[in-house]
Amino acid sequence: MVVFEPMITGHDLKKSFGGKLVLSGVSFVIPDGETVGLYGPSGIGKSTLAKLLCGVMRPDEGCISLDGELLVSSSLPYDRKRGLAIQMVYQQPYSSLDPSQKLIQGFRELIRYHHFAQDRSEEERLLQGLMQDVGLDMGILQHLPRQISGGEAQRVAIARCLLFHPKLLILDEATSMLDVSTQANVLALVRGLMAKSKGSILLISHDRALVDTLCNQIYVFDNKTLKETKTT
Ligand SMILES: Nc1ncnc2c1ncn2[C@@H]1O[C@H](COP(=O)(O)OP(=O)(O)OP(=O)(O)O)[C@@H](O)[C@H]1O
Ligand SMILES: [Mg+2]
Repeated sequence: MVVFEPMITGHDLKKSFGGKLVLSGVSFVIPDGETVGLYGPSGIGKSTLAKLLCGVMRPDEGCISLDGELLVSSSLPYDRKRGLAIQMVYQQPYSSLDPSQKLIQGFRELIRYHHFAQDRSEEERLLQGLMQDVGLDMGILQHLPRQISGGEAQRVAIARCLLFHPKLLILDEATSMLDVSTQANVLALVRGLMAKSKGSILLISHDRALVDTLCNQIYVFDNKTLKETKTT
């Protein structure tokens, strides 16, 4: 018998900072191909949960599984190799970019380190396709991070994540610096790209209307745990 395993599950996750309890028994399911919303006020623990998912922090208790296999638990270090399937666009868009190098250099390093292209011409095609996907001009890659706008940096950060063909893309307020119509375009585009590979999105936002519009499954914080809700 084949047992269906939802793609990513969190089970009873707990996390404190210096005695301050932030997550107290958080559980969730992120199925394949879904756009799942995570909504809650500032300081409630949304980014903390996202950081557990992509291995920036370890849970104090509980575990996270990917495709039915443990990815991390309080006693098991994060499995970095499998964890590459979970990519996150950070709330601060410049944080994933090296301030001292042109954007193109950062992309080339990533592509070469992870062997995403066989040769220089494949690398160029890959970069052109990515830039087109996120609606940016190739010329922008010649800039340093400080020379691009917040919205452009968000799109560059999304493009870097897409290189990995992630199974889960976490968008932590990742389009908040874009104007409303660009935000809608970028989100629609990212959803289309992720849907092609049956990948999922975890959309973290303070904006309940945005979450309601884009997500069938929504988690809200309730007393340091998560509750699944329907759209309002
Ligand atoms: N590394 C850390 N050290 C100490 N406290 C932390 C750390 N990271 C987060 N916190 C605290 O944990 C709480 C939750 O923070 P988190 O960043 O997860 O909130 P958030 O829901 O993402 O908020 P926002 O919507 O403002 O981004 C906050 O009180 C924050 O100060
Ligand atoms: Mg946050």
